[in-house]
Amino acid sequence: MKVLGFESSCDETGVALVETRDVGPPRLLAEALHSQAAMHADYGGVVPELASRDHIRRVLPLTRQVLAQAGCTLAEIDVVAYTRGPGLAGALLVGAGTAVALAAALGRPALGVHHLEGHLLSPFLAEHAPRFPFVALLVSGGHTQLMDVKGVGDYRLLGETIDDAAGEAFDKSAKLLGLGYPGGPELARLAASGNPKAHTLPRPLLHSHDLDFSFAGLKTAVMTLARKLGPELSEQTAADIAAATQAAIVEVLVTKSLRALAATGRRRLVVAGGVGANHALRGALDRGCARIGAQVHYPPLALCTDNGAMIALAAALRLQHGLADVRSDGAFDVKPRWPLQELNP
Ligand code: KG4
Ligand code: ZN
Repeated sequence: MKVLGFESSCDETGVALVETRDVGPPRLLAEALHSQAAMHADYGGVVPELASRDHIRRVLPLTRQVLAQAGCTLAEIDVVAYTRGPGLAGALLVGAGTAVALAAALGRPALGVHHLEGHLLSPFLAEHAPRFPFVALLVSGGHTQLMDVKGVGDYRLLGETIDDAAGEAFDKSAKLLGLGYPGGPELARLAASGNPKAHTLPRPLLHSHDLDFSFAGLKTAVMTLARKLGPELSEQTAADIAAATQAAIVEVLVTKSLRALAATGRRRLVVAGGVGANHALRGALDRGCARIGAQVHYPPLALCTDNGAMIALAAALRLQHGLADVRSDGAFDVKPRWPLQELNP
């Protein structure tokens, strides 16, 4: 079975084709991605209306590219999947409308996918796929959650951020340091030449007994520190603040992930979402998990941030497990707000 997937929830247009196999997880046949980061950079963040219009411009050329790359015709597609939410309503509607129209024209069913389920299952596209059950650390621009995952479609929330997401903490701190958008990768690059011990920043909720996070106070602390050391920050001072910020975020994420493994008795951790591309986080999680004898799984680096492959994959896995809510009536909706746990039976 071949599944074509569309991702358009925020500022990346992603299209991908996966194929299910009798043994092992579905295989990625081809994928194409267009990032709008450069377009939004002038505004310091995503402009929803511009995002929607750009998705419209990109989605069909990317689809042709994917089909050509896979050597596949439209007639060979069995199901068309799209991100149904959460995300920007207008942006979601572009992928959903395209997918449902294409499915109707082909006489095939369409399937709406939860964006975070896509992230969460994306490590199944890695060379060493995880096995269920596992704890998932979901760290994206809008979400920071720890989930206990027993299988496809079985997600129990263990803890989440009570304010800003980890990606938001990276982005907002980067903005305070005058870095470009998106701030996470920029801050990580600058942090590489900084001393994380030059400054001590707060580790919010580090010692709380729950598995929740709070990152809003961190950006305030970064702002206060930058003002104290400013108004003009030398390259080295900015790098030191970046390193200290990254160290604070990483320590909280690692500590809570290890605590979640201990609390659930799981032996595997799956990390997904844009912040999962962060090298310092990966290094610290690798060391932490090795220390307690747990395995840690990541998606391939290029599939940490938003992409079509994870949407096609999540749809394929749902179909294989008989959990897919497919529609063939040409109707669709999008869900800008949509808690992942609502997927549980
Ligand atoms: O999952 P994602 O692509 O989009 C959402 O669904 O939100 O995550 C984007 C987030 C942004 O906050 C971005 O700054 C962050 O992931 N990010 C990083 C890195 N790469 C992306 N944060 C830290 N280090 C990175 N290398
Ligand atoms: Zn995402």
